[in-house]
Amino acid sequence: MRPLLPSNLLLGVLLIPLHLLLSTATVTKAASLSFSPPKPHPLVIWHGLGDSAHSEAMSSFIGQLQEAFPGLYVHSVSMSPTGDDSEDRKAGFFGKASEDVEFACKQIAEVDELKNGFDAIGFSQGGQFLRAYVEKCNLPKVRNLVTFGSQHMGISDFPACTPTDFLCRIAESALRGGVYTDYAQSHLISAQYFRNPRDPNGFAKYLEKNDFIKDINNEVEINKTYAENLLSLDNFVMIMFDKDITVEPKQSSWFASYPIANETDSIGQAKPSPTNEVVPLRQSSIYLEDRIGLKKLDERGSLVMELCHGIHMQIDGACQMKVFGKFIGTPISPHFVPRGLRVWLARLLYGVLGLRIQDVGDEVLAQLFLVLLIVSGLKLLVGMGRNKW
Ligand SMILES: *[C@@H]1O[C@H](CO)[C@@H](O)[C@H](O)[C@H]1NC(C)=O
Ligand SMILES: *[C@@H]1O[C@H](CO)[C@@H](O)[C@H](O)[C@H]1NC(C)=O
Repeated sequence: MRPLLPSNLLLGVLLIPLHLLLSTATVTKAASLSFSPPKPHPLVIWHGLGDSAHSEAMSSFIGQLQEAFPGLYVHSVSMSPTGDDSEDRKAGFFGKASEDVEFACKQIAEVDELKNGFDAIGFSQGGQFLRAYVEKCNLPKVRNLVTFGSQHMGISDFPACTPTDFLCRIAESALRGGVYTDYAQSHLISAQYFRNPRDPNGFAKYLEKNDFIKDINNEVEINKTYAENLLSLDNFVMIMFDKDITVEPKQSSWFASYPIANETDSIGQAKPSPTNEVVPLRQSSIYLEDRIGLKKLDERGSLVMELCHGIHMQIDGACQMKVFGKFIGTPISPHFVPRGLRVWLARLLYGVLGLRIQDVGDEVLAQLFLVLLIVSGLKLLVGMGRNKW
């Protein structure tokens, strides 16, 4: 990319006067919009395991959002056709994940308010479900996808149930029958993202039987649509909780996992991997081989990995600040730079200056666009001058 521009310094110098010039334009733009304040992008939320679309916790979260962003439209995904909360909660434990995603695709497509696209927040397992929505359907399109404490590379252990959570305990005892039985892989949701690379026998069964997390991660077969759709996101924001003990390993929220253990030791017995270290995303094959587009997203600054302090799903004010007003709740405003060019410019901006659009604002992108126009215009003029001589 470097040859495109003379130097970072020149770009910086060029940006300053342009910024001064354009700030007047920004003021006028703001004034003309003051009649009707721009509405924020609509939002879809998918709750986590043990929760439901309209629970007290979800309603309070949605309420906080709507207070912060007046006029925000929120759709909370429910697996119940009638919106029944206990049915929806049950569906978090029991069912087939791929069918749930299909159900969500139909549900979302029917909501009028979402038809021009939306931002999405997935809580815990709702995060990998919404990622599956993007990869498999994405009609209407997701703009920013934000996942909180999700299990993108699966879990290699099940979280403990609270003693009074009967649904959880029923699911837990059903899991004792085996994670990779046909029954579990089609009826128990958490079994469908169970992936333990430290257990060689289990991992072989996973590769044979799993059809959810293995599928959406393009782990064995590649479906190009998944990567294309993921790349159409403006941003993919992944939040990990530093004291998360529910997700094992917690770094699964950032697409990390344990290394795949050796098949056998010298005496031919299965040997679990000795390491407790996870392989970070940028060193793992899903990234290096760019199986679902994460590498390309990262290279253009659209893959955001954020850390929140606290246990699983402890979304306090500081954690909200990493997302609200930045990726969620931002006003719908017309872009002056076409989409394809935006992506290309974002990549340039991030690659050369290390700046992300959402940190610098759309104005900077427009300025960069102008700079490039001027530079190429000048080059053309100089070229033409030379030809004449
Ligand atoms: C790839 O995924 C898309 C979207 O879900 C689907 O329509 C298509 O049939 C899949 N292709 C293959 C080869 O499975
Ligand atoms: C275990 O064996 C596989 C080949 O089956 C190899 O690719 C991998 O590097 C080995 N892992 C370790 C930790 O030695």
